[in-house]
Amino acid sequence: MKKTIEDIQVNGKRVLVRCDFNVPLDGSRITDDRRITAALPTITYLMEHGARVILCSHLGRPKGGFDMKYSLKPVADRLSELLGKTVPLAQDVIGDSAKALAAGLQDGDAMLLENVRFHAEEEKNDPAFAKQLASLADIYVNDAFGTAHRAHASTAGVADYLPAVAGYLIGKEIDIMGAALQNPKRPFVAVLGGAKVKDKIAVINNLLDKVDVLLIGGGMSYTFQKALGGQVGKSLLDEERLPLALELMDKAKKNGVKLLLPMDNEAAQEFSNDAMHITVHSREIPDDFEGMDIGPKTQKLFSDEIAKAGTVVWNGPMGVFEMPTFATGTLAIAKAMAECPGITIVGGGDSAAAVEQMGFADKMTHVSTGGGASLEFLEGKTLPGIACLDDK
Ligand code: 3PG
Repeated sequence: MKKTIEDIQVNGKRVLVRCDFNVPLDGSRITDDRRITAALPTITYLMEHGARVILCSHLGRPKGGFDMKYSLKPVADRLSELLGKTVPLAQDVIGDSAKALAAGLQDGDAMLLENVRFHAEEEKNDPAFAKQLASLADIYVNDAFGTAHRAHASTAGVADYLPAVAGYLIGKEIDIMGAALQNPKRPFVAVLGGAKVKDKIAVINNLLDKVDVLLIGGGMSYTFQKALGGQVGKSLLDEERLPLALELMDKAKKNGVKLLLPMDNEAAQEFSNDAMHITVHSREIPDDFEGMDIGPKTQKLFSDEIAKAGTVVWNGPMGVFEMPTFATGTLAIAKAMAECPGITIVGGGDSAAAVEQMGFADKMTHVSTGGGASLEFLEGKTLPGIACLDDK
């Protein structure tokens, strides 16, 4: 068991809180503030208990230097609105501005550091950088569940220099998902989508030791279809991982896991919402077409499996969800999950957005704020951002 904010005295202390404020932006407009609202219980607890709160986060993937596009300014503004109190944004992370603002905090105040990824040392988990970050505070709280799978300076390294405890969001995520996984109600079904085969190969491999049914849709399904000798046209393809896709399908057979791929797809001539599109057999996508979504037969196939599930976890969209024409498959999965009487857990930005968009969020057992982090947790991996915290 890890120590939490309730296990320590925070009154009058400077508390560095790592949050995951990596929110989707349209210019400077936040299009989904769930990750901010999910952090509020920890922030308000600390403020109400007289802490001097120094918030920090990354946003996007800047290249290790200042880039206005990735500034946390929109987050500071939204936090100020939500808390009803100005949360000033430092102009830097460990520089003069951060130090001056931190020194000026009164009990119950909160401030935000600039994007920690404006320093290349953050992702390298550089000890000197972690130490400088730690020097701003007396206590470290990690509440960035969405980034807990990264061993970075602000998510793990800093815990070497300060007493380190978990916030409420991390506690809630691991309690709910841990309980669902300890002894999953079966059949245990995983639905995986999204584009990144590379990122998800390891996940698939580990899930094959846990689940009864694995449904693979979205951008990565074309690599599996191609590995089976299918024609995938201009669809997304990870050539390098074709042999691995075959190995995974073999492993599924050996483990008695029912691995289902799409039977049909919506395919378009251009990568655009208004492109001419056709419904095709998933292994017969014409040369000048690319797969954009799962087709109606696949929606039914996958929904039927979800309906029978005792536990179902879903991560990653089934198609190009940001284009309304190709969001149908993803929305069908969201609906099937909402109607499933079993335990339903959704992770990942697009899947969570689909669930929110359809007003299904409160019909799920849990909508995680983590994408990669929730997957790694569900795989049974130790997350560095949690492992680094002090034990009770
Ligand atoms: C996420 O959105 O999954 C987290 O914020 C981690 O972001 P990253 O994949 O850029 O490390």
